[in-house]
Amino acid sequence: HRSRLTLDPDFRIGAVDERLFGSFVEHMGRSVYTGVFEEGHPTADEDGFRTDVLELTRELGVTTVRYPGGNFVSNHRWEDGVGPLADRPTTLDLAWRSLEPNTFGLNEFMAWARKAGVEPMMAVNLGTRGTSDALNLLEYANHSSGTRYAELRREHGVADPHDILLWCLGNEMDGPWQMGHKTAEEYGRLAAETARAMKRLDPRLSLVACGSSHADMPTFGAWEATVLEHTYEHVDLISAHAYYEPLDGDVDSFLASGSGMDDMIRSVVAAADHVGSKVRSKRRINLSFDEWNVWYQKGWGGEDSLEWTERPRLIEDVYDVTDAVVVGSLLMTLLRNADRVSVACQAQLANVIAPIMTRPGGPAWRQTIFHPFALTARHAKGEVLRTEPETPRTETGRYGEVPLLWTTATLDRKNGEISLFAVNRDRTRPMTLETSLKAFPGVRLVEHLVLADDDPTAVNTEAEPDRVAPRTVVPTRPTDGVLTTELAPSSWNLLRLA
Ligand code: AHR
Repeated sequence: HRSRLTLDPDFRIGAVDERLFGSFVEHMGRSVYTGVFEEGHPTADEDGFRTDVLELTRELGVTTVRYPGGNFVSNHRWEDGVGPLADRPTTLDLAWRSLEPNTFGLNEFMAWARKAGVEPMMAVNLGTRGTSDALNLLEYANHSSGTRYAELRREHGVADPHDILLWCLGNEMDGPWQMGHKTAEEYGRLAAETARAMKRLDPRLSLVACGSSHADMPTFGAWEATVLEHTYEHVDLISAHAYYEPLDGDVDSFLASGSGMDDMIRSVVAAADHVGSKVRSKRRINLSFDEWNVWYQKGWGGEDSLEWTERPRLIEDVYDVTDAVVVGSLLMTLLRNADRVSVACQAQLANVIAPIMTRPGGPAWRQTIFHPFALTARHAKGEVLRTEPETPRTETGRYGEVPLLWTTATLDRKNGEISLFAVNRDRTRPMTLETSLKAFPGVRLVEHLVLADDDPTAVNTEAEPDRVAPRTVVPTRPTDGVLTTELAPSSWNLLRLA
């Protein structure tokens, strides 16, 4: 195959929001316990945080971390996780039918977030609870002193407010699996009133209303429209969630997941803008894609089969090379929509469908999907440039006709660095990519990194943690302003130019 594209500094989409490189720590399985937090672990610090996981979190380049759920939040009482440890109860988490020891809660998470250097994204329970509890939590978290919950925080040893600015108004409230599941009307009204009250308490907040749990929900589109009709003037973002996997062995569709995500973003944007014009608003609602990843969902038994235990091993998917190529392309889709997606969180950070795996008492290692995330977070800086490749197209079962080459690029005007991301979706044939750099005279290819393997099913394990890692390809030189590079079959590529 042969593809062609042009890079031009004038083709701007929008600024790269740091919050696009978010992640997610839910009280689910071993995400918290033996994931980020494991007292007595050889690397645990004075707070019981695994420093091996903290280091990998920093290396991953995560900027924002959503907490404490997920489905978990919809039956969660935040008060159970604060105050003296001796007084904290063990509770029943109905989402994952697990026992929650509450030894890690809001204040522990905030201490961890500070050490990890990430911004918190907090969720309130709008499933089994409502406005009043959301306000109590916000007062506890953000009010300085002199009031009931601010003083409670201070009694708990946290003198200064946490100043959490990004909040989710519940989680996946359209899903019948959700504790306190609601209709769009019910949720829209509750979210609007909760948002109004929360902003009265703290006008600095950015609030996320729940969009659909995935694009195949029967109410997708209609849910967003109804919820936003109630909340448009009170919230800032609408959420989107999506997980991808090869269904019925259809790997070609799986490799095109980035196009599927692109379609989904366009639909949510259309629903939001439709409501914006209907309510004649000057505001624009952007997306918080606060759950996305590869998840082999069809392969797991579901919540109903779970027993009441602490930190069960839940959805600890082991990712291969193809999964990493897809994760890289999903990040590219988020960047391609930088003008309308302001926040994104890969679900999740540790052990639960995660880039970081740990063994209790043992080491932590990088899954294959760690690598495209870390490289994108490190090198996608400045502004996203529009790329319109001329490329062959192919028919997929799930997403119809899609381009074989998936691309995006960023330009950091501060230092002139350009990052071109390119995925060759063809599983058997390499692709020659010709990139016109005529608008960037003198620019050279500094580094070409590729994630691909002769064995696309190769994985990283505790025994072989670095089996899959990016490789460097000898850089080529542009001729007459055109850079010619070879993209391996089924590969994720980062071309760094300066
Ligand atoms: O990330 C795992 C789960 O997926 C989350 O708890 C939920 O919000 C989604 O359905």
